[in-house]
Amino acid sequence: MRDVCVVGIGSTKYGKSDLSARELMASAAQGAIADAGIDPDRIASGIFGNAFGVAEKQGHLGPLIMTALGLDTKPATVVETACASGGTAFHHGYREVAGGFSDAVLIGGVERVSMLDTLTATTYFAYGSDFTYEGGTGCSFPGLYATMARSYFQRYGATEQDLANVAIKNHENALHNPLAHLQKRITMEDVMGSMKVADPLKLYDACPFSDGAAAAILCDEKTAREFTDTPIFVEASARAGSIAALHDRPDLTSLPGAVLAGQTALQQAKLTVDQIDFFEVHDCFTIAEVAASEDLGLFKKGTGAKAATDGLTRIGSKRPINPSGGLKAKGHPVGATGAGQVVEVVKQLRGEAGGRQVENARRGLTHNVGATGGTVVVNILSRRS
Ligand SMILES: CC(C)(COP(=O)(O)OP(=O)(O)OC[C@H]1O[C@@H](n2cnc3c(N)ncnc32)[C@H](O)[C@@H]1OP(=O)(O)O)[C@@H](O)C(=O)NCCC(=O)NCCS
Repeated sequence: MRDVCVVGIGSTKYGKSDLSARELMASAAQGAIADAGIDPDRIASGIFGNAFGVAEKQGHLGPLIMTALGLDTKPATVVETACASGGTAFHHGYREVAGGFSDAVLIGGVERVSMLDTLTATTYFAYGSDFTYEGGTGCSFPGLYATMARSYFQRYGATEQDLANVAIKNHENALHNPLAHLQKRITMEDVMGSMKVADPLKLYDACPFSDGAAAAILCDEKTAREFTDTPIFVEASARAGSIAALHDRPDLTSLPGAVLAGQTALQQAKLTVDQIDFFEVHDCFTIAEVAASEDLGLFKKGTGAKAATDGLTRIGSKRPINPSGGLKAKGHPVGATGAGQVVEVVKQLRGEAGGRQVENARRGLTHNVGATGGTVVVNILSRRS
C-alpha cells in the first residue's frame, strides 16, 4: 500500500443549475486539474459518483465527462451507492492509487435534479431505499429519517428544538461558504414555524434538492510532491454497510455501517476521535447529524442532540461539525456530496476556508451515507507538515 495524497480540488457552486451533469462534472474536474497544476494526460482514469443520471435520460456518463475534458482514451467509471456515490468514487480512487495501479486518478461526483418537480425528485430519490418495503409504500427519505427522529426522541427525550439547533448552526456556517446552496441565516422561530415535511421533521430539518459537482486529483506521495510541498494525505478510507431497510434494524437511532466504517477508519489512521479537529458529516436531515455524531464516537449515545443545543458542534468548539454548512445548507447534490466533503476538508487543512476556517485544522473526517446507511464511507485526511 502506498500513501495517497490529494493534490487538487474543484467544485461548482451548489444550487439550481442550467448546466447538464456532464457539464457540471467537467467544470469541477477542470477546477481540480488547474488547482493541482497537473498535465491532464497524466491522469490514468476517472471515477465519478452519480445516482440519478437517468433523470436527464443519460446513462454511461463517464466517457462523456472524459471527452469533455479531452481525455477520451482514458477509462472512466460511474459508481452508484445512492447519496454515498461521491464518497465511494473517492474510496475506489484511493484504492487504485494505494494499490499501485495508477499514479494519478481523477475522482468526483455530480448530480442534476432541479429540473424535476418535488414529487418526481422525491420518487427518484426513494429508489435508493428498499423500494418494495419503503419508498414504494410511501415511506420516502423524509419519512424514514422522521422515523429515526421519533425513535430518538422517545428513547432519549430529545426535542424538535434540539434538532433545530443543528439546522441553525449549519445555516450559519454556510453564510461563509460562497459555494453553498442556501445562504440564509435562520432562527429557532423560522425552523419551528416551517412547513412540516414528515413529522417531526420540517422544511428546515431537511437538505434541499441541489445540483452540483465536486472533484479531486489523487496521487501517490512521490507524484504528489512534483506538484506541491504540502500535499494533503489520505490517512484512512473505509467503507461499511448496514441492513438495507431501516425497519429490519434493532435500533433505529444508529447506522451500524457508520459505527463500523468510523472505527475502521480510525484504526487505519492509528488515531482516536479526539485527534480529529473537525467533521464533515452526512446531515441529509438534522437527525442524521445527531446520529453521525454518536456513531462516530464524538458524543455518547443519546447525548448528540443536547450537544448541538449546547453549542458543542460549532466552529470554535471542541467538535466542529459541518463547517461547510453541511448537506443542510451547503446543499446535497446526491452523487457529488461525498466528493464535496473531501473538497471542504482539503480547503480547511490548507487554511483556505475563509470565514468558516477551523483554527489550526490538521486532521478532518468525512462521513458520507447512502440511503439510511446501506452504504457508509468514512475518510480521514491530514496535513502532516
Ligand atoms: C423539504 C422539501 C420537500 C422542500 O421542497 P419544495 O417544497 O419543493 O421546495 P421548493 O423547491 O418549492 O422551495 C421553496 C422555498 O424553500 C426553500 N427550500 C427548499 N428546500 C429547502 C430546505 N431543505 N431547507 C431550507 N429551504 C429550502 C427554497 O429555496 C425556496 O425558497 P424561496 O421561495 O425563497 O426561493 C425538499 O427540499 C426535500 O424533500 N428535501 C429532502 C431531499 C432528500 O430527501 N434528499 C435525500 C436525503 S437521504
